[in-house]
Amino acid sequence: MTETLAADADFSDRDAAARAILTGNDRGGYTVPTAGLYPYQWNWDSAFASLGFAQFDLERAWREIETLFSGQWESGQVPHILFHKPDPGYFPGPDVWGCTGPIPSSGITQPPVALSFATRLLAADPALGAARFAALYPKMRKWAEWFLRWRRDEKGAIFVVHPWESGRDNAPDWDNAMDAIDPQGVGYYERRDTQHVDASMRPTKYDYDRYIWLVQRGKALEWDDARLAQDNPFRVADPTMHFILLRALRDLYAAGEAQGLDTAGMAEQLAELEAGAQALWNPGMGFYDSYNCANGIWSNALTNASFLCWFAGLDAPEMAQHLSRVLDAAPYGVPSLAPFDPRFDARRYWRGPTWGMMNMMIGEGASERGVALGEEVRKRTREVIARYGFVEYFDPMTGAAAGGKAFTWTAAVWLAWAGKEG
Ligand code: GLC
Repeated sequence: MTETLAADADFSDRDAAARAILTGNDRGGYTVPTAGLYPYQWNWDSAFASLGFAQFDLERAWREIETLFSGQWESGQVPHILFHKPDPGYFPGPDVWGCTGPIPSSGITQPPVALSFATRLLAADPALGAARFAALYPKMRKWAEWFLRWRRDEKGAIFVVHPWESGRDNAPDWDNAMDAIDPQGVGYYERRDTQHVDASMRPTKYDYDRYIWLVQRGKALEWDDARLAQDNPFRVADPTMHFILLRALRDLYAAGEAQGLDTAGMAEQLAELEAGAQALWNPGMGFYDSYNCANGIWSNALTNASFLCWFAGLDAPEMAQHLSRVLDAAPYGVPSLAPFDPRFDARRYWRGPTWGMMNMMIGEGASERGVALGEEVRKRTREVIARYGFVEYFDPMTGAAAGGKAFTWTAAVWLAWAGKEG
């Protein structure tokens, strides 16, 4: 354990700085994750932004989610990026994706945490939120149902068709499926991310070639769900997506009931997802894990997504033991990969660093399920942000700041959770 900051340390200046990041990244109705590196509306970043705004401007918080849903496709899918205004500093842009939704967008989705957070906006002020929630509700249900229809394997687990869909871009979870891809014909392209952030903190060229190859493949299939489900070589059952969807449906169902909205079929959907979660239990390793749907091969990776089980409302005593081991090894928050895994890389994105927003879902979920370490996760997240700033992610061994600066979700997590007194 590291030496902790004084219990009575005054963090009020951080609150103001966090609010300034949110308002600084606000582009009018939507918030960019950070200027430069990520200049558009990203799906789950936007959900966290909304929760951050909810701490001081509830009206603006609702707008964030409404803007996100303005990009919803006819199928129910809500894209992972909405390209509201062109920005040449980003690659791959709208032309590479070639999508035809109501707003230029990417062709994949991201974890639907926005559904859960919409219910929190409602709870914060039911009078202000009831009508707005009711207007979003059928769209939210449609998105949840789209996952159940198009992103569920025969064992009942939710899978992703691109590493970016999970939101954990270069996690070891994808290695097996990525190895099977030969990115021939991907052609010349120019990465823009490494112009903003040091290449050692970003995914490798090996990964990037496959990311772009998969985008080209999806475009060739016209992002048709049925064709993607059949012809896409990348299908990995993912605890991030499964656990967040399970939580989303649980929250939506409870709020729908309370508001007297149509909840037909939701109890069954919830029961199916609960049962499907068992497919993600790796019996050999004794933890929640991802597997390649094509061959059933487990990732054998204890990641921060493994610990989202509590957020999903599941009890898992073994996971508390794993969390304890991981927190003993990494002093600055839950690492994206266990430090005792040989694939661990403390600075490389989703192969080691600790992320504030993942810590929030892990810590909150654990505390809700009576796991005492949940509060420890909050304290460590608070400390690492207070010391090193509102950056994209942190080295979990030293706390050092990494990735983009003035990051929306880190600021939001401070306001909504980490910076609050426990
Ligand atoms: C990266 C992250 C992803 C996030 C996006 C914008 O791609 O891996 O989770 O949504 O950046 O911040």
